Amino acid sequence: MPTVLALETSCDESAAAIVRDSTVLASAVASQVEEHARWGGVVPEIASRRHVEALPQLIERVCAESGVAVAEVDAIAATVAPGLVGALLVASVSGRTLARLHAKPFIGVHHLEGHLCSVQLGDPLPPGAYLVLLVSGGHTELVKVEAPGRYERLGRSHDDAAGEAFDKVARLLGLGYPGGPAIQAAAEHGDPHRFALPKGRVSRPEGGFHPYDFSFSGLKTAMLRQVRALEGEAEAGGAALPVTDLAASFEQVVAEVLVERSCRCAADYGLGTLVLVGGVAANRRLRSLLQQRCAAIGLQWRVAPLAYCTDNAAMVGVAAAQRLAMGLDSPLALGVAARLPLGEAQRLYETPAAF
Ligand code: KG4
Ligand code: ZN
Repeated sequence: MPTVLALETSCDESAAAIVRDSTVLASAVASQVEEHARWGGVVPEIASRRHVEALPQLIERVCAESGVAVAEVDAIAATVAPGLVGALLVASVSGRTLARLHAKPFIGVHHLEGHLCSVQLGDPLPPGAYLVLLVSGGHTELVKVEAPGRYERLGRSHDDAAGEAFDKVARLLGLGYPGGPAIQAAAEHGDPHRFALPKGRVSRPEGGFHPYDFSFSGLKTAMLRQVRALEGEAEAGGAALPVTDLAASFEQVVAEVLVERSCRCAADYGLGTLVLVGGVAANRRLRSLLQQRCAAIGLQWRVAPLAYCTDNAAMVGVAAAQRLAMGLDSPLALGVAARLPLGEAQRLYETPAAF
């Protein structure tokens, strides 16, 4: 059972964890959201500086909490792609330095493989291949997982990621950053059926629509139009902007479209289990709708534990332990990359280093 020290700094959370297989011995996250909230989104330069400040203490903390010293782990892992380059470099340099000093293997991890592995921190998965709906701030993908490291993308967003849509609509409604939790809080007391909003389909050049793909730009525009019209009424002496109903209606349509297309994809590909991961997987309405619909059609489901939906290092540790178990590690010269499709994650274990 390999023990891994894992580091994550790909966006705006600094995180460290010590994981033994898929058991978390200690996990710590230092969020920067308050700092970025002032600017309405992530400022890359600030993110890098905060990672530099936070990561050493986080490493000390997880070692103290788990009672495992760096010298005792079997490998050191860090997210190396995709993400903000300056931010990724912090965990990459720290991880490779520790690996070198302690003569341990270094495992570079693909951030989305980390999210995929977050579900393993919860109840065990049924045997066989399964479909994952991965919804984060940067990605919305339907991924068929056949075995560790064997991924096939069956669906994706053609424009904004689901989390990005939450963040932009929250800004439109004056709800602040990050938008997901803000919309969820506002939506709690709203009417999810008050406003009819579009489900955004993606046409195929040969006719018809991509059955498992997503588009959120039309929904965003529809929200903008609705808000402008309501603001016009408010100026003419009508009621104040119904933010709770707008937030609830938006959240409902996003949850419906994600769940409907995922269920259809799982059924069409004969996959008996649907898994939900990523920051947006923290959304209560989405979690409960997915469970209801799966139960109704006899599909098994798993959702990542709430604490491991948004960025964390425990999921990175599970992904690394899996790669280590496959006999893989990364060259110490491995750098970082802003972009890397999930299907190319095995390049992180090739010599010479992929980048
Ligand atoms: O996975 P994550 O932490 O970072 C990326 O890899 O992108 O996802 C962050 C995204 C943000 O867009 C945030 O608004 C969204 O996840 N999010 C939520 C909720 N909590 C976080 N979206 C909807 N409902 C939530 N409760
Ligand atoms: Zn993420």
